[in-house]
Amino acid sequence: MASSFFFLLLLVALSSLSTADVHRTKLLRSPLISEPGSHNSSTVSPTLYFEVTKPIELPNTKPCSYLVLKHDFAYTYGKPPVLANYTPPSTCYSQEFAKIVLEWSATCKGRQYDRIFGVWLGGIELLRSCTAEPRATGIFWSVKKDITRYYSLLMKNGTLAVYLGNVVDSTYTGVYHVKLKIHFYPADDEHLVGGVGNSRNSVPGYGSNADLILPISRNLPLNDGLWFEIENATDVETKEFSVPLNVYRAVLEVYVSFHEDDEFWYGNLPNEYIQANNLTGVDGNGPFREVVVSLDGAVVGAVWPFTVVYTGGINPLLWRPITGIGSFDLPTYDIELTPFLAKILDGKLHEFGFSVTNALNVWYIDANLHLWLDDKSTKTAGELLTYNCMPLVLSSVLDFKGLDGKFLIGASRSISSSGWVQSSYGKITTTWKQEFNYSNVMVMGNDGNLQIINQLIHFNDSVDAKSPDSTIASIQVYRDFPFYLYSNYVDQGNGTFLSIANLTSTFNDVRHKDFGFKLSSSSLNNVQKGQGYMTVMNNLVVSGLGSTQQAYKYDGSVLCYFRNVSSSNYTVLYDDVVKKCGKGGAESPYASGVNRWWPSQTQKVYQM
Ligand SMILES: *[C@@H]1O[C@H](CO)[C@@H](O)[C@H](O)[C@H]1NC(C)=O
Ligand SMILES: *[C@@H]1O[C@H](CO)[C@@H](O)[C@H](O)[C@H]1NC(C)=O
Ligand SMILES: *[C@@H]1O[C@H](CO)[C@@H](O)[C@H](O)[C@H]1NC(C)=O
Ligand SMILES: *[C@@H]1O[C@H](CO)[C@@H](O)[C@H](O)[C@H]1NC(C)=O
Ligand SMILES: *[C@@H]1O[C@H](CO)[C@@H](O)[C@H](O)[C@H]1NC(C)=O
Ligand SMILES: *[C@@H]1O[C@H](CO)[C@@H](O)[C@H](O)[C@H]1NC(C)=O
Ligand SMILES: *[C@@H]1O[C@H](CO)[C@@H](O)[C@H](O)[C@H]1NC(C)=O
Ligand SMILES: *[C@@H]1O[C@H](CO)[C@@H](O)[C@H](O)[C@H]1NC(C)=O
Ligand SMILES: *[C@@H]1O[C@H](CO)[C@@H](O)[C@H](O)[C@H]1NC(C)=O
Ligand SMILES: *[C@@H]1O[C@H](CO)[C@@H](O)[C@H](O)[C@H]1NC(C)=O
Repeated sequence: MASSFFFLLLLVALSSLSTADVHRTKLLRSPLISEPGSHNSSTVSPTLYFEVTKPIELPNTKPCSYLVLKHDFAYTYGKPPVLANYTPPSTCYSQEFAKIVLEWSATCKGRQYDRIFGVWLGGIELLRSCTAEPRATGIFWSVKKDITRYYSLLMKNGTLAVYLGNVVDSTYTGVYHVKLKIHFYPADDEHLVGGVGNSRNSVPGYGSNADLILPISRNLPLNDGLWFEIENATDVETKEFSVPLNVYRAVLEVYVSFHEDDEFWYGNLPNEYIQANNLTGVDGNGPFREVVVSLDGAVVGAVWPFTVVYTGGINPLLWRPITGIGSFDLPTYDIELTPFLAKILDGKLHEFGFSVTNALNVWYIDANLHLWLDDKSTKTAGELLTYNCMPLVLSSVLDFKGLDGKFLIGASRSISSSGWVQSSYGKITTTWKQEFNYSNVMVMGNDGNLQIINQLIHFNDSVDAKSPDSTIASIQVYRDFPFYLYSNYVDQGNGTFLSIANLTSTFNDVRHKDFGFKLSSSSLNNVQKGQGYMTVMNNLVVSGLGSTQQAYKYDGSVLCYFRNVSSSNYTVLYDDVVKKCGKGGAESPYASGVNRWWPSQTQKVYQM
């Protein structure tokens, strides 16, 4: 009895600490951070929160910068997205841009939860992100995202929409004061229009941005955002679309975030265990999830998502000020659709479907369809040559007695297709492959109060395109996402409990691109470790400590970037940045603070 009670407490606490979600009933159950000694907020300067990521490679030109939206998000929950008219940068000294950067900057003060938000232009999603949780003394943060890939969209008038569902009352006092800017960097000799290389001798469609992007999102105007909401394992959300007749390449870019009962899907328990222990109110369906994308009912690709932990997740003190990997700029996933073009080049309506294997409420999913058009012909043609979609292979070994035990869950899948498209560039044959592997070892102990998760996702994909003169373009992406979480809950005996959570989350991404004229490779190894404890009483974190260490190592063809940073109890302990490729990078003279990619707190960047 007692053990089930505390077990329930564990799950309730784990799943309600972070919300990034919408259900007010759950928000109310979440603990709030109380910071003793910080009540006289007028004397303390705000804290800068940041996500560790590499700087955007920019040309040496002066950007034309535009404020596209300014809004205070107070009681916006359930309201329509905030809209603004967007016009291209007609007043800029140049009309040819090598880089376009979206900058979100925000301040907040008081108490508030992490809120998921999205930014769309003409229904095309530009950014999926989560807000930082404020402090009594105030916080500020900014997110910069390279949006050059949306070049054709950004050169047209459109409606910009931001949905950030916030709730403000006497308890949740934080209002998000937001500015959204777009910076246009004109091209120079080295950095060509659209950030692309010289495209001579390449396979067309590679190394250039799409000519047209179609929104595969919910239609405007809506009350609750523009993403689709996947509520359960059988829910399939669909969108009809049609493409111009002269498309020769198509890529679907998928945006994914998970909330509420599936916010911590990697820690969800097997239903057999829940049933055997008569547990209720516990998030189940086990820890495996995959996003499945179908075209006219046939699976064309899948996404096994990275385990983003939002800024209130697991222990909110872990993410102050270094936020979780991907939390300020959620990763997106590309699915190559070119082999399937033959099926949709008929001017008729077709349908994309999104579903999530084992889903619990709720997943926010939408997509952008990037299309390359043949400007020398009005009609292209194609044929799907091969298509293989093996069913998901799932394995599960459950070994438990009462509330303690061990579960081994494994999964693998591969999807591949090939097809040709005939355009004025000739007959180009494209092959697309995805290979996935997954394992999750979960240990439950301490009468269900202890949970140790060891999960590993392998996510490979590749595109090969061959043109008639045998020029080949290829993209290979190897990703793996190891995730470790130790969490324990200890009853303190008088209505308080102690939560201890240590985690290691890793984002590895290796890419090889060969566009005929240009070979490039990059590798990213981004490792974040956190240790936290907190005492929770009556839904309030009365004391606690979070410490985070992160090592971000990126090696690209042009840029290398290494950052080693750590924080504890809101304070950055060390922060070393090295921007040098090759051996000896670590001994580079770039010292802590000298080459910082975020402003020091004395710069008062929050004064927007
Ligand atoms: C807060 O700080 C201000 C400025 O230093 C001071 O005037 C005020 O008395 C302080 N209030 C409290 C409650 O300590
Ligand atoms: C874009 O919007 C601007 C400002 O509202 C307007 O002057 C212009 O005519 C529009 N352009 C097009 C192509 O609709
Ligand atoms: C799953 O979600 C869909 C969409 O909300 C709903 O129509 C359906 O009834 C749900 N199915 C189950 C089994 O709950
Ligand atoms: C679960 O409920 C059933 C039926 O009420 C009961 O027989 C069983 O002992 C319960 N199991 C546990 C672990 O409480
Ligand atoms: C991904 O590719 C790497 C490198 O070729 C290979 O070692 C690994 O087994 C692949 N993973 C899967 C799931 O296919
Ligand atoms: C997938 O993972 C399992 C272990 O979980 C391993 O036995 C198998 O070799 C892996 N397959 C690939 C293709 O990596
Ligand atoms: C009760 O909780 C408070 C607050 O955490 C703690 O300081 C105290 O030691 C606890 N008392 C007992 C008897 O556990
Ligand atoms: C969690 O981290 C703390 C602080 O580094 C450490 O003392 C403790 O041993 C860790 N616990 C586990 C189970 O790793
Ligand atoms: C990061 O810096 C810390 C403290 O100087 C050091 O102990 C650690 O080894 C460094 N990590 C890496 C990956 O260089
Ligand atoms: C965290 O820092 C505050 C001062 O900002 C201090 O009062 C508190 O004791 C520190 N907490 C821990 C656990 O070290």
